[in-house]
Amino acid sequence: MDEERLITPKEQNEDQVFDMTLRPKVLAEYIGQEQIKKNLEIFISAAKKRKEPIEHVLLYGCPGLGKTTLAHVISNEMGAQIRITSGPAIERAGDLAAILTNLGEGDILFIDEIHRLNKVIEEVLYPAMEEYALDLVIGKGPGARTVRLDLPRFTIIGATTKVSMISSPLRDRFGATYHLNFYEDADIGKIINRSAKILNIKIDNGAVELLASRARKTPRVANRILKRVRDYAEVKANGIITMELAEVALKNLGVDQFGLDQIDRRILESIIKKFQGGPVGLNTLSAATGEEQATIEEVYEPYLLQLGFINRTPRGRVATETAYKHLGIDIPKNLQEKLV
Ligand code: ADE
Repeated sequence: MDEERLITPKEQNEDQVFDMTLRPKVLAEYIGQEQIKKNLEIFISAAKKRKEPIEHVLLYGCPGLGKTTLAHVISNEMGAQIRITSGPAIERAGDLAAILTNLGEGDILFIDEIHRLNKVIEEVLYPAMEEYALDLVIGKGPGARTVRLDLPRFTIIGATTKVSMISSPLRDRFGATYHLNFYEDADIGKIINRSAKILNIKIDNGAVELLASRARKTPRVANRILKRVRDYAEVKANGIITMELAEVALKNLGVDQFGLDQIDRRILESIIKKFQGGPVGLNTLSAATGEEQATIEEVYEPYLLQLGFINRTPRGRVATETAYKHLGIDIPKNLQEKLV
């Protein structure tokens, strides 16, 4: 893997195998997101008691926070089969019809990136979600007619990083919506300990704490950093991850004390040096850094906002005083009052 991309919460190929062993299977194993777990427990128990499938669930939050993991957990807790697809993979209404007619009673259909479903498909989805019915149009022109197919009772779990891009008719059809937040560092530490145990990695408490503070409050990043630092420990030392070793390994991997990498720093430096601290529009920032607009918006920016390194204003992004300090750049006189 490209070293530069170590801390991206975007899913990479190697994560998929990795995630399968590390992914918690039931709610009791799932660390963090306490409020969501509490609500889900009741939601799931009530449905089981009534012997009904759970209502449709919408999960939203930044990449790597565990939306897919949670969907698997829900399906395990329900004892249901899960089918996986994504918004962009469903190109035509026929694709969706094929998926829906192959579902069994109580199955879960996980639709990742559900905000990328096209309008025509959304329209097919409405009666399917509401009445478990599929309206098929047969023929064309004046002779066309609709037939209604009954579907088994099933559950859609939709996942999205951009809840604002989901139309309100679609949003209204979900019985529950959960927002996954960034994790507490203590919870990331627990996740690192759990993963280390599963993967047979020896790591001391100081190192766990250090890695947790650099993992962007994101489980996927934590697991990936753990793996990279283990590589380092195996090659350069005796395989045991101590705090001193972790410190050196992270430095070599280009991850700083806030978990920022070269790209985060390039984004901040651009705002500060090329645009006098901002405001700067997303498209301009994208051109200046060579990073795709969507990547900046969905991957880098949420964590920089969370750290308080940038602010979003109606006229664009601005760097905060904290960002200047972190990069060791003096705040120009004319900005000093404005930034406080
Ligand atoms: N691995 C990834 N996310 C996790 C979580 N929230 N709890 C436990 N293990 C995880």
